[in-house]
Amino acid sequence: MPFDPIYDRVSRVIPPVEWAAMEEDAKAILELKRQRRAVILAHNYQTPEIFHGVADIVGDSLALAREAEKADADVIVLAGVHFMAETAKLMNPGKIVLIPDAQAGCSLAESITAEDVALLRAKYPGRPVVAYVNTSAEVKAASDICCTSGNAKKVVESLGVPEVIMLPDEFLAQNVAKETDVKIIAWKGHCEVHERFTPGEIEQLRAAHPGVVILAHPECPPEVVAVSDFSGSTAVMADYVKREKPARVALITECSMSDNIAQANPGTQFVRPCNLCPHMKRITLGNIRRALEEMQTEVTIPEALFAPARRAVERMLAVK
Ligand code: 13P
Ligand code: SF4
Repeated sequence: MPFDPIYDRVSRVIPPVEWAAMEEDAKAILELKRQRRAVILAHNYQTPEIFHGVADIVGDSLALAREAEKADADVIVLAGVHFMAETAKLMNPGKIVLIPDAQAGCSLAESITAEDVALLRAKYPGRPVVAYVNTSAEVKAASDICCTSGNAKKVVESLGVPEVIMLPDEFLAQNVAKETDVKIIAWKGHCEVHERFTPGEIEQLRAAHPGVVILAHPECPPEVVAVSDFSGSTAVMADYVKREKPARVALITECSMSDNIAQANPGTQFVRPCNLCPHMKRITLGNIRRALEEMQTEVTIPEALFAPARRAVERMLAVK
């Protein structure tokens, strides 16, 4: 095969025969980005052909929110799930924000409504509401401040109060509660990908792969985080591998994460316990291409929600 700079970026994880079926879409997307003055923001759980092949900016939820604010383009394509595209629109309302599949949801975002937030406020008066970014614009608008898995502890402590409501991820709330003196009232939402990991699985990994370093996402149950070596957002995990260069690592998170960072860490062996996010996997090269060809599906935020939802994200981004 002649040298292809795009394929070179994914060659360790995509065999040439599979790339042959992707190449046309990838090249068409690069040309469409130029014509439309578009940028593609991709979450760390996107497949490697998107992450390495066509994305302009990749990262965790926090980085994508920050980058959405700065994006200098006419069009932002969000290769990720719907709440991420809404956050991009909130932070850069003058741009057209497209999501290649509007059905790309999230079990956490779907676990709570604005009415639920109102009921929590009535039950626990005076406690500020910290909403994980994995929520709809409607829930963000009903909250005081957002957080991500990369800044949750900092956000909770920035409020200077003894007790907060943190929603909707029960496990993230419990994991943060272990690291702070602030009391946390949690909701009962779970990530359908991370809730399936068990402490038994981690023990099996350690037995089968001696010396393996276990990094768990804080959406995992606290019992899983407790038997892991380190916990952090997807970007924090990627930084850890780059910095510490473990000989063997297992990322207790979504499948594509290991594929995406393997390319830049050839000295590390990735043991791959793998739970797939069906929502993230709705995004493909094919529907990114179609999104740019047809300028669909445009993400909009109802006017009444816009200012309060944006304020919650802005307050989070202001926390240093
Ligand atoms: P982070 O990339 O912020 O760690 O979030 C993980 C996640 O599940 C996003 O849907
Ligand atoms: Fe939602 Fe979990 Fe999928 Fe992230 S991995 S989009 S939190 S269901």
